[in-house]
Amino acid sequence: MREDTLIPLLSGIPLLSGSHLMGEESVAIPWFEGALEEEVTSASPPPLPPASASEVRSNSPFRDEGEIARGGMGAIRRLYDEQLRRRVALKAMTPELASDAASAQRFLDEARITGLLDHPNIVPIHDLVVDDKGLASYTMKLVKGQTLTELIAAQKTHRDLENILECLIKVCDALSFAHGRGVIHRDLKPDNIMVGTHGQVYVMDWGLALVQGESRAIVDGAPEPDGMVVGTVAYMSPEQARGLVSKTDARTDVFGVGAMLYKALTGSPPYPGEPMQVLKRVQQAQVTPPEQVGNAAMKPPPHLSQVAMKAMAANPDDRFQSADELAAALREFLRGGNWFPQQLFPAGSVIVKEGDAADAAYIITSGRCETRQVDPGDPSRSHVLRVLGPGDVFGETAIFADAPRSASVVALEEVRAVVVERAAIENLTHSSWLGLFVKALADRFLQIDAELAEARKSSI
Ligand SMILES: Nc1ncnc2c1ncn2[C@@H]1O[C@H](COP(=O)(O)OP(=O)(O)O)[C@@H](O)[C@H]1O
Ligand SMILES: [Mg+2]
Repeated sequence: MREDTLIPLLSGIPLLSGSHLMGEESVAIPWFEGALEEEVTSASPPPLPPASASEVRSNSPFRDEGEIARGGMGAIRRLYDEQLRRRVALKAMTPELASDAASAQRFLDEARITGLLDHPNIVPIHDLVVDDKGLASYTMKLVKGQTLTELIAAQKTHRDLENILECLIKVCDALSFAHGRGVIHRDLKPDNIMVGTHGQVYVMDWGLALVQGESRAIVDGAPEPDGMVVGTVAYMSPEQARGLVSKTDARTDVFGVGAMLYKALTGSPPYPGEPMQVLKRVQQAQVTPPEQVGNAAMKPPPHLSQVAMKAMAANPDDRFQSADELAAALREFLRGGNWFPQQLFPAGSVIVKEGDAADAAYIITSGRCETRQVDPGDPSRSHVLRVLGPGDVFGETAIFADAPRSASVVALEEVRAVVVERAAIENLTHSSWLGLFVKALADRFLQIDAELAEARKSSI
């Protein structure tokens, strides 16, 4: 990811926020046809003027403990509150930003919007101060933890991805609350989600939020006309990329959550690359399906890829229609064990073979098969034990009991089955009481099966 190059963009046009466009940086720029054809030149980033907390908050009970992060809208500093004897975070507008009236206004609106959204998954704001030089800053809860970006980069196992899904569900809960108050975030990306050390999830950075309806009473900025491109290109919905402010609604944020899920599944945002070069693709919502992206830490579960692609559908009518609907799909995935791929077996194929080592178990989703066992008296013959159909399971016993396959399973017609790999089953056996019970049952079953085979042999 090109994080170091800044592109002077559409110079001469007043910008709402941030005067530069970086790989995954938020932008608010007036859109016009032909903007993409503007000459784009690389330049080294101009040094941002320091925004020191002591400068913006003189006579305050806060002791400045230094900058902890910096984004497009301002610097984040850690302060120690001498009165309450606790640490807080301060977001301070840079003097550069303050010199642009619209950006300065937006900073104030950001603080007020965040203040309006009193929800456990939205960072709580404490207060807003404007000093005599016109520099605004606000204090908020200091979140000790990681951004979702860091969490995604560190994921290694299925469990890590499940944690990220749980985090996205909480993001959806926060969004559902915000949407109910007429606030659309519009800049959802992993950098703007923080996860505390105890798993608390906070949606941060409401600096580009669109406020509609009654809540407009709390903001001073004028309603945005169509023609503004607002958000972060790498994660942007097509309606944002086309500057269709009037078409921006809760489903725009559904797209944003889908884009973060995409990043979690593939390791890349939906539109990696130079913002100005990908913007045309963004406008048409041309997203490479997750399974075709090569650099994922693990193979994306097909069901989750479908959820991400539905959330990022070009037409908002084809997306989940609300953050709650998207959360429900994620919850269903977590509950339903949809982790596993499906496989198709042609009629007549031997899906598992008696005596073989077991590497997977199967759940039939369509078609029928039969289980067969070799005749103990005449190994050239076999007899049918059972016919299995949709919803039936086979191949699990050998894994739970760590034994060779006790029977063969042959497809009677085309069979589609979910393949549950050995590692997933072993995880369950080792980590839950239910797994131990199932393993004990599998051992008992195999013991009885062996006794039955013995009895058959002696009766011949
Ligand atoms: N309350 C906070 N506690 C800890 N870190 C924070 C807090 N707010 C922001 N940060 C850090 O600062 C970064 C930039 O903050 P953000 O509000 O997104 O600024 P910008 O609007 O400039 O993008 C975040 O990605 C996060 O790493
Ligand atoms: Mg940010």
